[in-house]
Amino acid sequence: MKNEMIIVLDFGGQYNQLIARRVRECNVYCEVHPYTMTIEKIKELNPKGIIFTGGPNSVYGDDAPSYSTEIFELGIPVLGICYGSQLIAHLLGGKVETAPVSEYGHTEVQVDNQSILFDNVTANTVCWMSHTDYIAQMPEGFNMTAHTAVCPVAAMENAERKIYATQFHPEVMHTKEGMRMLSNFVYKVCGCSGDWKMDAFVETTIAQIREKVGDGKVLCALSGGVDSSVAAVILAKAVGKQLTCVFVDHGLLRKNEGDEVEAVFGPDGPYDLNFIRVNAQQRFYDKLAGVTEPETKRKIIGEEFIRVFEEEAKKIGAVDFLVQGTIYPDVIESGLGKSAVIKSHHNVGGLPDYVDFKEIIEPLRLLFKDEVRKAGLELGIPEYLVYRQPFPGPGLAIRIIGEVTEEKIKILQDADAIYREEVDKAGLSRGIGQYFAALTNMRSVGVMGDFRTYDYAVALRAVETSDFMTADSFEMPWEVLKKVTNRIVNEVKGVNRVLYDCTGKPPATIEFE
Ligand code: XMP
Repeated sequence: MKNEMIIVLDFGGQYNQLIARRVRECNVYCEVHPYTMTIEKIKELNPKGIIFTGGPNSVYGDDAPSYSTEIFELGIPVLGICYGSQLIAHLLGGKVETAPVSEYGHTEVQVDNQSILFDNVTANTVCWMSHTDYIAQMPEGFNMTAHTAVCPVAAMENAERKIYATQFHPEVMHTKEGMRMLSNFVYKVCGCSGDWKMDAFVETTIAQIREKVGDGKVLCALSGGVDSSVAAVILAKAVGKQLTCVFVDHGLLRKNEGDEVEAVFGPDGPYDLNFIRVNAQQRFYDKLAGVTEPETKRKIIGEEFIRVFEEEAKKIGAVDFLVQGTIYPDVIESGLGKSAVIKSHHNVGGLPDYVDFKEIIEPLRLLFKDEVRKAGLELGIPEYLVYRQPFPGPGLAIRIIGEVTEEKIKILQDADAIYREEVDKAGLSRGIGQYFAALTNMRSVGVMGDFRTYDYAVALRAVETSDFMTADSFEMPWEVLKKVTNRIVNEVKGVNRVLYDCTGKPPATIEFE
């Protein structure tokens, strides 16, 4: 069954993915495409509605992104947001000018709730504005449906032609009733029924994969992270023992993590698949001995990882399909021709070119991260795996400053486990983007009992972030920090000092190396 679809046409707005996520939260499938997508392609996709995003340009600027007015003739409802709203005005004969007063941030807006778009929205509500241009004159046939103190056309529409436009951003959280507006658009204007549900997605995907794979052999590199775990379980449910998961334990995982992954995916777990755990710890420790430079550590781990995986793949022999955990943001970013967000050094889990396979399967290609999690829960994967925070491929090696030794790994694993346990107990774990302990290379003097100590300092880090590209330091309650500090210095031998990292990104990065 093909899902109803809304298309987001991207004009360079920073919220393109957010719009799509919001639409999907309304249970309507939504794809992001560049504004260069042809009208033929749009017709082929036959969406129920189209949303124009915002963007940094002025409609009358040189090289301003635009679209043919044919798009308004398709009979498909259109919603323009910010730049998108100005573009609609401009293309249909209205006037866009530099506003005498720019608006930025929380703004009170008066909406006309006779408009379907604002059905059940409070007449006097709060929206998020971010513009220097505005619609000075609406195109013929349009009515003004919202205004602010300084923006005469904060929204307009031609209900007959099903063309809607808002100068503000309904997709951002700060627009208090934005979700209702988007939901009005997709349900009441576009007539969607809301058929995008994770249970149906999971079921359809399993059926499609089963058909595609036939009796072929499938190989999956399993890291224990959310994406590869969900991908592996989908495959396991689809093709069972035709799937082999290779889990490389490089000895740089969090405390007990290797065993946790094995408990779920290994022979005693609930899934009927072939699971190979490669205990390659010593190989990695040997290679890392004496190495202190962060980039060299990353390279060594990346290369060794690939080598181990390749050796295992060779033992298995030729496979027909290789599973990858690509998710939708990766697809959008490469599709829109923007520079990839993923740094090259993040591809440690990446796979060698020379593994012998015929085709790639990417079961999560269409999903945002929160949807991957929903799919994971739907598949019955334990919550602690589904809500696991991101963990870097090189693991604890980039959280240990300086040389990596077994002794330091043990110290860090223990300290980090205490930190995670206490944050969890305090009920904070879901609200923090990422948090972990790192082992600084600093030793300092302390006193324990009547003895002088000369031990390591552990640094605690916690950040709030939506995309991991920028981040704020999380304001950890003092009570939690006190408890964690106490436990670490008392329970972890070799540590006599605990520090909290208050730096944001930029200027720091989230990881220490
Ligand atoms: P930074 O330290 O660059 O990290 O602010 C941003 C996010 O990326 C994760 N990260 C990695 N993930 N391989 C990965 O798979 C890596 O080499 C790597 N380095 C950083 C980091 O944990 C954070 O979520």
